[in-house]
Amino acid sequence: MRIITVKDYEELSKKAANILASQITLKPNSVLGLATGSTPVGAYRELVRIYKEGDINFSEVVTFNLDEYYGLDKENLQSYYYFMRDNIFKFVNININNIHIPDGRAKNIEQECIGYEDKIKQAGGIDLQLLGIGRNGHIGFNEPDVKFEAQTHLVTLDEDTIEANSRFFASMEEVPDQAISMGIKTIMHSRKILLLASGEEKAETINNMINGKITPELPASVLQLHPDVIVLLDEKAASKL
Ligand code: F6R
Repeated sequence: MRIITVKDYEELSKKAANILASQITLKPNSVLGLATGSTPVGAYRELVRIYKEGDINFSEVVTFNLDEYYGLDKENLQSYYYFMRDNIFKFVNININNIHIPDGRAKNIEQECIGYEDKIKQAGGIDLQLLGIGRNGHIGFNEPDVKFEAQTHLVTLDEDTIEANSRFFASMEEVPDQAISMGIKTIMHSRKILLLASGEEKAETINNMINGKITPELPASVLQLHPDVIVLLDEKAASKL
């Protein structure tokens, strides 16, 4: 793991966007694994800025999102599909056919999950996977006690995750309690991983992820076994290292 610590969220966002932009420059048809949540919002904003300055081109880029809430359709304001469109896709020249996000309304979940894995394979695998991390150590929606061998699957969200994500919803009751998420195995198959964490509330989890033992109790600890991970932190998230 390569740990990079920067001063604050602004710097973290710029550096993350530069890493993503370099990936696209070096391989214009890169397959990117993307995350939602608060952490990558600044990185997406910066990436859009780099695009508007004419320095990168998304026309051949292929994307796969980590997860989607189960039960929400694309038009729902809280869906991750909507989030991605609103934060990045509507601003850049990505081909809509190259965007992949699990279908939260899929009738046949098993088929949706197997199909998602197939599409990743057909695209040639993920070149660079962007990750955030939950306070409980989840990556994607792989909650504590995860099976490391899992691929894309339906997950039940932890109470802690529902509480953390309720800030985007009118009430706790409205937060879906299930999601379709890439599994740990899917994430570990990416060629490179860039994990972002910002703020003090992530500090202890980050320390355990880097210096603790590898355990399903802290799903992100499995990243210690991946050969090419950058962990990009701001000073607060790095404060317990
Ligand atoms: C999002 C995802 C989650 C988030 C994590 C952190 O697609 O898979 O693992 O990365 O919950 O969320 P924030 O960035 O909101 O703290």
